Parts: sequence; C-alpha cells; structure tokens
Amino acid sequence: MPSVIIAVDGPAASGKGTVASALARHYDFAYLDTGLLYRAVGWLAQQAGVGAENAAQVAALLTPEAMEQMPQLLDQPQLRHHAISAMASQVAAHPPIRLALLDYQKNFCANPPQGKAGAVLDGRDIGTIIAPHAQVKLFITASPKVRAARRMKQLQAMGEDVSEAAVLADILARDERDRTRPSAPLLQAPDARVIDTTALTAQETIDQALKVVSAITF
Ligand code: C5P
Repeated sequence: MPSVIIAVDGPAASGKGTVASALARHYDFAYLDTGLLYRAVGWLAQQAGVGAENAAQVAALLTPEAMEQMPQLLDQPQLRHHAISAMASQVAAHPPIRLALLDYQKNFCANPPQGKAGAVLDGRDIGTIIAPHAQVKLFITASPKVRAARRMKQLQAMGEDVSEAAVLADILARDERDRTRPSAPLLQAPDARVIDTTALTAQETIDQALKVVSAITF
C-alpha cells in the first residue's frame, strides 16, 4: 500500500516544525524536517571551507558516502545554530544541490523509516515538488515579527546570544531568497490549507492542524 504523505510548508519559524512533529506523533508516522538537510549541506560546506555561492563544489561534497551519513548528521544540534541558517538558504538556491537531495526526500516518502505507514515532511517545496501527490497539504504562516520572536526564543534556549534585530534580518533575507529563487521556491500549493499562527499558541496551532487533517480521509 502506498504510504500516506502529509506535506507541511511555510516560511522560517512559522510553526511548521511544531505542527509536523505533532502530526507525526499523533498518527505514528515518520517525520523529516527537510530544512535540516539544507542546514547539513551548509554545515558540510562550512567545514570544507567551500563558499555557499560555489554550487558545483558544494554539490561535490554530497557523495554517496556523505548521503549515507545524512541521518546521523541531521541529529547534530549545531545544524540549528543561527550561523548555519543563512548558509542553508544560500546553498538551497542551487539546482544541483536540490537535485542531490531529491531522492533522499522522495525515498523517505515512498518508504518511511521503521516501516511506518506514513510520513510527515516539513519544508518549502514539499507540497509542490517533493510530494505533489501528498494526501494532506498544509501551509503554515505567521507575521515576520512573531516568527523572529519565536526563533529568538529557540536560539536563546540553545545558549546562543543573537540580537532580535539580527534574527529578524535573517528571517526576512531568507524569506526573500526562498520565495524568489527560480528552483523550487517557497510556494503555497493551490490545494494546501493555510493556517496563520500569528495569534496562536503552539497548542492552538497543533489543535487547528489536527482538526484540518482529521477531516481528510486517507
Ligand atoms: O526550515 P529551515 O528554516 O530550517 O530551513 C533552512 C533553509 O533551508 C531555508 O531558509 C530554505 O532556504 C532551505 N529549505 C529549502 N527547502 C526545504 C527546506 C528548507 O529550500 N524543503
């Protein structure tokens, strides 16, 4: 039986990770935060001393061996650091890098790990490019100011000392780059349900998402 796919897209710190992980727990599906894949590539480039603008050299780092190590790399807390965010968004604009990560994501959808019956993926292009056939598509959004405040809290919890202005600037720059890149831009799929989390708590957001998803038969 084909696996059930729930696609959760949206801009940075909109709450899509909160929604996606809660849905995965609720339905006992596998969960993939695809932003971590691009963060991992940014991190690999940084470690190798390769500039994010150098598409060919960054793509060359994604050898079959590196891709095999990917699940372990995704668990590294340093991928979530502020400094990696901009690197991730820059490498994500290059078509060869998106192509190199495509099979990994499609395979996660077709064969969710641990024999789970379904997969929840969050990112920017899940409902449009990675899984246009997803049974459920959500687009999670919130105002830039609220997103910056949330991201700030997460960074502080990780012990990072960054100003709110720097976090807001990073979010706005990434939004602009992610929305305007020619290859797989951040886009709301026409059949996605939108949840604006600006005025919602995490629990209210999860409750809304569960309500939307539970109304869909899969
Ligand atoms: O989701 P997160 O903010 O961790 O993603 C980091 C960066 O990775 C984003 O700014 C975006 O440029 C890129 N990304 C992407 N496509 C995805 C997920 C993330 O381009 N599916």
